[in-house]
Amino acid sequence: MTVQTRKIQEGFGNAARPLAKDLLKLDSRSDDPIITETGNHIPERVNFDFRQYYDRDYAAAEYEKILLKTWQMAAREEDIPNVGNRVPFDLGPGSFIISRSGPDEFKAFFNSCRHRGAMLCTKKEAGETIKCPVHGWEWKPNGKLSKIPGWWDFPDLTPKNGGLREVRLERWGGFLFINADPDAPSLKDELGVIPEHFASFDMENRYTSVRIRKLIRCNWKIGQEPFQESYHVTETHGPFAASLVGDTQTQYDIYKNGQGHVGIGRNLTPSGVPSMNSPSENTMVASANMWIAGIAHFLYPDETPIQIDPTQDTRRQMADWHRAMQKKYYNREVTSPDTVLTDVAVYFLFPNTLLHLSEMLPYSWSFTPHATDPEMCYVDLRMLLPCPVGQPRPPAAEPIILDVADKVSEKAPQLDFQANVVQEDIDNMELLQRGVRASDPRNHHSHLGLYQEMVLRHWHATYDDYMSR
Ligand code: FES
Ligand SMILES: [Fe+2]
Repeated sequence: MTVQTRKIQEGFGNAARPLAKDLLKLDSRSDDPIITETGNHIPERVNFDFRQYYDRDYAAAEYEKILLKTWQMAAREEDIPNVGNRVPFDLGPGSFIISRSGPDEFKAFFNSCRHRGAMLCTKKEAGETIKCPVHGWEWKPNGKLSKIPGWWDFPDLTPKNGGLREVRLERWGGFLFINADPDAPSLKDELGVIPEHFASFDMENRYTSVRIRKLIRCNWKIGQEPFQESYHVTETHGPFAASLVGDTQTQYDIYKNGQGHVGIGRNLTPSGVPSMNSPSENTMVASANMWIAGIAHFLYPDETPIQIDPTQDTRRQMADWHRAMQKKYYNREVTSPDTVLTDVAVYFLFPNTLLHLSEMLPYSWSFTPHATDPEMCYVDLRMLLPCPVGQPRPPAAEPIILDVADKVSEKAPQLDFQANVVQEDIDNMELLQRGVRASDPRNHHSHLGLYQEMVLRHWHATYDDYMSR
């Protein structure tokens, strides 16, 4: 492995279709850390071995060395609104119980009975105790052992020493993250710039308005990789997408976190500016008008889209319109920079958490391996809308559970035009999975772009580091 030294061209744009970094200078809040704090780490030139996408030894090592040692986005507080509520969080062969043990207290446990190991929680549940269906041992929501039928036969066990085996749980922005490694750095350290950059996005005061959990026929890493680059946008999502967003002008950042370990990647793709791949007659004005019409249809269906004034800054008008919509529908004064209202910035926390800093597509994603098959994974996608200010918190949507053959484009109309976009990504994930298997065994590795795939390269450098420990 060699360290990157060659000068990298940071995107492809021109005067009519500027790079994201130049558009950000025109932002009405261009002094915000979201814009001023760029991630300057240049990753190593990693081209990775395709076996990691299907080989069972890789999968077993990943589970031990990465998934059990990193922060996993297991649930949101609103999924378990009342004391005694709990949900399972499955992570490859492992599983955990996420429990609300008090009005403002949460616990996580290995999802395995202390008696003979049965799984305790397989669906969302409520109740005063967590009860094993096999012989009926019971624990309180805080994990304390409360009942053993025929306790006389287990004289060594007490409420104190018979508790469920706990794993670390830490909270940020309404998310419940868990980590099975007692020695791992804190969640706060690992989140790096995220809490500061997401401060005005106010993740805590959002709720899950749509949630999709789908089984996909690909390795979990293939599932998440499309979200680490916008290089795929023109080909995968077609000419309409290319006329709407500047995929080639995307800004990529890699940040160091509090531990000095580099854990956060970001890709920020501007909207309202055509891709350099889009025919030259497509203008920023046309792009901005399409954006307003699309976002109005998706997020504010009762609105009549406005028309952009071609003599004024087009992206500023998009942002002003979206600020007004947020005020009208959520009673929110959005203090974020314009880019948060108009664009999509995907923050990637190693190994499998993605957070969109975007009022346009306010999503979170996580990709987790299938329990036994390295060529399958689960995606858990949430749309996180703001809770309307001054009104009761809306309830969290229950997940729409989709099997391998179920199409997001058919089963999730709530995602509007985005359902097709997500399905286009998923269709290609399945092709990638089949293709890495079919590659020439004498040359079975990737060949990555220097700039547009640097978050991917960085992810794989971090992966190699964990796997070599
Ligand atoms: S296996 Fe759980 S009570 Fe026996
Ligand atoms: Fe995509």
